Amino acid sequence: MKRIALLGATGSIGRQALEIVSAHPDLELVAASSGSTPIDGLAEHTQVGGDLTELLERAEPELVLNAVVGFAGLPATMWTLERGIDLALANKESLVAGGDLAVAAWRRGGGRLLPVDSEHSAAFQLLDGQASDTVDSLVLTASGGPFRGRSRADLADVTAREALAHPTWSMGPKITVDSATLMNKGLELIEAHFLFDLDYERIEVVVHPTSVVHALVRFRDGASLAHLGYPDMRVPISYALTYPERAETPIDPLDLAAGLILEFHAPDLDAFPCLALARAAGEAGDTAPCVLNGANEIAVAAFFDGRLSFLGIADVVERTLAQIDCVPARDLEELTEVDADARRIASALTRQLVH
Ligand SMILES: NC(=O)c1ccc[n+]([C@@H]2O[C@H](COP(=O)([O-])OP(=O)(O)OC[C@H]3O[C@@H](n4cnc5c(N)ncnc54)[C@H](OP(=O)(O)O)[C@@H]3O)[C@@H](O)[C@H]2O)c1
Repeated sequence: MKRIALLGATGSIGRQALEIVSAHPDLELVAASSGSTPIDGLAEHTQVGGDLTELLERAEPELVLNAVVGFAGLPATMWTLERGIDLALANKESLVAGGDLAVAAWRRGGGRLLPVDSEHSAAFQLLDGQASDTVDSLVLTASGGPFRGRSRADLADVTAREALAHPTWSMGPKITVDSATLMNKGLELIEAHFLFDLDYERIEVVVHPTSVVHALVRFRDGASLAHLGYPDMRVPISYALTYPERAETPIDPLDLAAGLILEFHAPDLDAFPCLALARAAGEAGDTAPCVLNGANEIAVAAFFDGRLSFLGIADVVERTLAQIDCVPARDLEELTEVDADARRIASALTRQLVH
């Protein structure tokens, strides 16, 4: 039996993870958390809100699935990596905001870091067992979201409701808006940099509307390997929970003869500047990704509430980055202060943009 702690059990990833755990006799759910929804009886140890590391201390899991949304997941990521406990990571924001600290903790702890994001799960599988000097570059695919093909001018008046209508993936609200702005792919670019120790110039993003190819790795000999599958998060969740085995899932095998459309094109960085902002923040390093992430969380929340336009999200992120000097953070406490600064500045900018 593998003792699993599931953080964010009531969310989109959390609910699908519960399905996988209950279908797999070798997985035991020993702990579960939510932000605010009651979860009595879901596991031996449960917690609603509060410090998730207390729950993990009590539950002594062998694997933590971090499916919390946002920066709030970072302390649990650090706790798990530091102790060498296996981490199945859906909470990409923790690796974006705290990448340097998290990678250092991962090295010290020596546990496994198993990505749950579908593209990173795919890349992990493609890179597994390959010598790093044989890898030329990694390609991450993006569906392009509900506004793919629109010009910047066409995006001025789009609403949160329209942004939530994702064409291929069914996900929680924050990541769905991030997919619409392409910030999600920007966060994933930074996530891939830290997970696979690849320079940014060796990670490419292409738009692939049907989301069948999740990632592709080009090798130095000219070969390229791709990972294909229907867009269903139960596949990467199952892979991370049962690694190194491949458990059965209720997903149909890929039907190539059914007319799969494998079309790819370059992202439109004028209409979707968040991707370029994320790349620049990643390249700048230090706390720039933390500032980018904190500002984005504030801007997305304001967009949901109708206090900020869709295009205002990138605006707030860009202006917040311009107002903060990014230096290395020595520990989680310093990083939390940087995140708080970014949120304060982004909130003020959001108010200014409204008036
Ligand atoms: N959904 C997907 O298909 C998908 C795909 C790839 C990656 N991811 C990543 O996985 C993570 C979760 O995404 P999601 O779509 O599952 O989000 P979601 O549906 O919004 O669920 C978020 C979960 O986190 C909990 N939570 C929220 N704020 C919290 C806080 N401050 N402290 C503790 N728990 C908190 C929520 O609890 P309450 O319900 O009680 O508020 C909920 O259980 C994100 O980082 C996302 O980028 C998601």
